[in-house]
Amino acid sequence: MCGIVGYVGVQEATTIVLDGLRRLEYRGYDSAGVATQQNGCIEIRRAEGKLLNLEKVLSERPVQGNCGIGHTRWATHGRPSETNAHPHYAGGIVVVHNGIIENFLELKEILRGKGHNFNSETDTEIIAHLVEDYYKTDKDFVGAVRKALAKVRGAYAVAILCEQEPATMVAAKQGSPLVVGQGNGEHFVASDIPAMLSHTREITFLEDGEMVVFGGGGMEVTDLAGNLIEKSPKTITWDPIMAEKGGYKHFMLKEIYEQPRAIADTLAGRLTEDEGDAYLEGLNLSDQQLQAVDNIFIVACGTSWHAALVGKFLLEKHCRIPVDVDIASEFRYRDPIVQSNTLTLLLSQSGETADTLAALREAKAKGGQVVSICNVVESSIPRESDGVICTHAGPEIGVASTKAFTTQLVALTLLTMRIGRSRNSLSAENCRDLAQELLKLPRKVEATLELNDQIEAIAREFMAAQDFLYLGRGNQYPAALEGALKLKEISYIHAEGYPAGELKHGPIALIDEQMPVVVLVPENATSEKVLSNMKEVQARAGKVIAVTDANGESFCDNVDSLLVVPKITDDLMPILTSIPLQLLAYHIAVLKGTDVDQPRNLAKSVTVE
Ligand code: G6P
Repeated sequence: MCGIVGYVGVQEATTIVLDGLRRLEYRGYDSAGVATQQNGCIEIRRAEGKLLNLEKVLSERPVQGNCGIGHTRWATHGRPSETNAHPHYAGGIVVVHNGIIENFLELKEILRGKGHNFNSETDTEIIAHLVEDYYKTDKDFVGAVRKALAKVRGAYAVAILCEQEPATMVAAKQGSPLVVGQGNGEHFVASDIPAMLSHTREITFLEDGEMVVFGGGGMEVTDLAGNLIEKSPKTITWDPIMAEKGGYKHFMLKEIYEQPRAIADTLAGRLTEDEGDAYLEGLNLSDQQLQAVDNIFIVACGTSWHAALVGKFLLEKHCRIPVDVDIASEFRYRDPIVQSNTLTLLLSQSGETADTLAALREAKAKGGQVVSICNVVESSIPRESDGVICTHAGPEIGVASTKAFTTQLVALTLLTMRIGRSRNSLSAENCRDLAQELLKLPRKVEATLELNDQIEAIAREFMAAQDFLYLGRGNQYPAALEGALKLKEISYIHAEGYPAGELKHGPIALIDEQMPVVVLVPENATSEKVLSNMKEVQARAGKVIAVTDANGESFCDNVDSLLVVPKITDDLMPILTSIPLQLLAYHIAVLKGTDVDQPRNLAKSVTVE
């Protein structure tokens, strides 16, 4: 975790670096810091907590220079504090780092033996000392970085400056994201594209084991041994405004409201209605390969895991292939039985989640095909997959995932159509029907968003509750899990999602007049069963917030609150029922005054185990 930014050019580095860090705060906000290099002198400013604190420090004690690095931290080694904040300095070398150095204790001991003293509890500080150690003898900055990085084990993206080397910056990547931007006589480096998008659209993606040296107005990419690597930049078409709040109070609300567009974009060009099939450009799997699939694993973390659970219903129903859904941190260590005819599907909005990436590598090492569904095109997970389906949700800044989740469900539906057609388990006619339903989805999501005022009123009524229960059956159970996760993530209210049929096996003991129970009960094959469960809650004085569709409205009489979403095919209903739950969590969090976009202890992209 953490975000890094670096700049070498003609402008004031601090302005550029701070601007970049602001766009990377979703990666962590335990502390922030900058360092600039000017006239053989390095100046460092750091502050615990959010970027705002660093900005205050900088306004009191500004720094200058056209070459600078910055960092926003999500604490791993060492608590959040100013001492542990990056950049870390040792004898003229200053470093910002994202990742974890696994052998840092071992290296620290060796360096201590050579007389190095450490100021922080971080693993990062050893990089500064290692580089310093080599630089002392060779006086070769780039060579010293190379030697130092050859010693460290683990994951890193680093940007490094040296007091004695004016206007030179070295950056390198191994296992953590790092992109390079080229402007007019200036260069940028950062953990993610939005950090530099207002300055350049010419982006070069670094691979693991690559290092880049900026200096003299140019840049040079090499491997760690110093061999030159030819790279050409790609032009990124994202609009920087897309990454701004666009008039909404929070990114999360903006992103909830972006769902009709995000879904339409994810569908664009992928439905061949006439043929009754889905066209997935990056899937890279032939009909023969899809026909040969014996089983599927879907592997993910957090909200993406909930999307995976919905995916199981879609794929098993229409493709008749057994599907196992795994949490990535479990999959990677349980020696899963992946065979040559296994398809492993990784779901990740960021494409950088460490556990999901490790699960991908585990599956790849065992054989079979590996496909990912991801929202960040050039991130690590799609780059290492055999095939990719990109969700086109655009950048998601709010830590609590919303549009990335619903577009994952759309992508899973498209994949189901493609596999189902290739195996003929799904008829062209049924596929066409599903395509028709998908095309109606953006409009139905818009209609669902009109429930906002009603949901805000419900939020006022229930905001003081200590616990919430969310119930659903079938593909509404993952939607219930996701609704509960959204509420706990941003409002800090304890919430649990449960299969409605399991209520009687434990959670019913919790029900009393204090307990709001959100029941997902659209009209489908199990709605009568869910209704019985709802009655069990009401019989114990529990408060029911029911979410149903136009056909289910009549059977939801006597509930405390009723939310009615448009009717859509059962396969897509989890998309519509999730949206009121996103808004419910959002309004409760706003009423409670929590930090909606950056909830405590959470980060958008978890690049550590
Ligand atoms: C973090 C985020 C969650 C997200 C999870 C998986 O915990 O806070 O919102 O669902 O990571 O992220 P991914 O990028 O792999 O979907």
